[in-house]
Amino acid sequence: MILPISIIGTAVLRKKAETVTRDYPELKALIDDMFETMYKSDGVGLAAPQVGHSIRLFVVDAAPMTDDENDVFTKTFKRVFINPEIVEVFGNNCSYEEGCLSVPGLHENVVRQDGVKIKYLDENFNEKEETLTGAASRVVQHEYDHLEGILFTDKVGALRRKLIKNKIANISRGKFEHNYKVKLA
Ligand code: NI
Repeated sequence: MILPISIIGTAVLRKKAETVTRDYPELKALIDDMFETMYKSDGVGLAAPQVGHSIRLFVVDAAPMTDDENDVFTKTFKRVFINPEIVEVFGNNCSYEEGCLSVPGLHENVVRQDGVKIKYLDENFNEKEETLTGAASRVVQHEYDHLEGILFTDKVGALRRKLIKNKIANISRGKFEHNYKVKLA
């Protein structure tokens, strides 16, 4: 089932999300719906708060982030992250143009450290730990921020943030082009 995506300005996007318990109702169906919704809207990651569930869950499929068929890691980086914990971020600061399904039409450079070490539970509640760099690290750090109520627009440089303030206000009022189901505040 395709779920509507909450747009910037919606309260759920600004809440710190709650820990997921094994008895969370219809968790498996929610995960399936999140993948379906993400693919339908051409996203590479989707966090549960973006579809109205304030819980610590996100899904990722980084395959479209590389054109390099030899980059097998990125091409197959499809994961479910439940209750993730960032152990550390490391490496050089890198600038990369990010976008977000909750902020349609806006793409801005965001500086993040290249690497992340993350602990999480997979869809079967098995404990995992991975050290990621490059595209996988970028999308994981972006999605993790959603669980903390942080959007990529918060991380844009101060000057640029001023310049896009009105644009963001317009997006929150529904003034944008989109081809997926959305939910405004
Ligand atoms: Ni996002």
